[in-house]
Amino acid sequence: MNVKLYVLAASVAVLVGGVGYATGPHQDLDCLGCHDPHYAKAEKLFKVKNDVLINPRTGTKIDHTSALCLGCHNIHQFGGGDVKPIHLHMTHPVNIVPNPKIAKVPDQLLRDGMLQCVSCHDPHPSNPNWKYLRVDSTGGAKVGQFCLACHPAKADTSFYGIAQADIDFFSSMNEDKGPGNFKSSELSIVSPTPNYVHPFGKYDNGIQPAYKTAATQPWIWAPEPDMLPEDLKKLMQENQPAE
Ligand code: HEC
Ligand code: HEC
Ligand code: HEC
Ligand code: HEC
Repeated sequence: MNVKLYVLAASVAVLVGGVGYATGPHQDLDCLGCHDPHYAKAEKLFKVKNDVLINPRTGTKIDHTSALCLGCHNIHQFGGGDVKPIHLHMTHPVNIVPNPKIAKVPDQLLRDGMLQCVSCHDPHPSNPNWKYLRVDSTGGAKVGQFCLACHPAKADTSFYGIAQADIDFFSSMNEDKGPGNFKSSELSIVSPTPNYVHPFGKYDNGIQPAYKTAATQPWIWAPEPDMLPEDLKKLMQENQPAE
């Protein structure tokens, strides 16, 4: 195919594909960036698991779904992929059991009773909201409407014209209902997989899929802590929370 035809075909594909679909950047991960049907590193067939850093809030390793996100969204020195990196020392707390005086989190947004990245974000490509947030913030113009979902005592609800109970949360986690916005009372099925996949600990990443996809990027392999350079290990030790 000559270049012009190729460009034309590609733009038609984008136009057709674009109608009615969210086109956030996770689309390009094409499922296999986050899930691996045969060589999973963590529950729910997660392909990435970054538990290099100790969570400064709890002094324990990050596990659960947040370790997936941090496999890409942390700096490489901390086991991530440098993809829009966020750092746990200066980020909204995660992997914690909420103190009810600080936040009134709808139960359905917690995982094993804890706040995780997925409490605020539904990362599936079907989520049309700004930054994959669970609450529509009108493209980031009304972020307070999202914060209000868990910190209602702090927001001027008359400004947003909405109370906590009225908030719609985006969820992709119920195939019976399909992706969409649900009241917290309807978010009953949040994560039904029984987690029967239990990867057998640390193993050599020489086992790799026989196929290659655009999503197979070097960032998916988090280094073992003893592979880290001395100065970084020291920095991490200094960053441990006080007893
Ligand atoms: C950015 C990472 C990411 C991408 C890309 C992604 N997923 Fe997921 N997936 C997750 C996370 C995180 C969860 C767990 C979410 C939760 O607990 O709310 C999950 C859960 C699931 C589950 C388990 C649902 C359950 O009920 O327990 C299935 C099935 C799934 N994803 C399929 C897919 C498919 C199919 C695609 C591609 C269209 C995809 N995922 C793309 C991160 C991703
Ligand atoms: C396999 C790598 C990978 C994983 C795992 C991953 N992401 Fe991403 N994420 C990306 C890429 C790539 C981008 C686009 C970065 C860019 O635009 O520079 C992105 C962008 C984002 C954005 C910004 C979206 C926007 O519209 O600007 C958010 C929010 C986000 N990710 C949240 C998450 C959360 C939460 C998780 C875990 C549930 C997660 N990601 C897991 C690769 C990943
Ligand atoms: C309390 C809610 C909340 C939690 C928990 C949360 N985020 Fe976010 N996240 C946001 C909001 C709000 C934004 C958009 C504002 C901004 O970019 O700072 C955002 C933006 C992002 C972005 C896009 C940054 C950019 O430059 O575009 C990424 C990536 C991201 N989050 C990843 C994560 C990961 C990984 C975790 C878990 C370790 C996480 N988030 C936990 C609320 C949250
Ligand atoms: C899904 C629920 C949820 C959402 C949405 C949410 N938070 Fe939080 N927030 C929490 C939890 C849980 C804590 C920690 C409570 C604890 O320490 O036990 C917290 C803590 C905080 C803290 C105290 C942090 C510290 O270091 O002491 C601030 C400030 C805060 N949130 C602001 C925000 C802002 C601003 C937004 C909107 C951008 C937001 N939160 C959205 C659940 C949420």
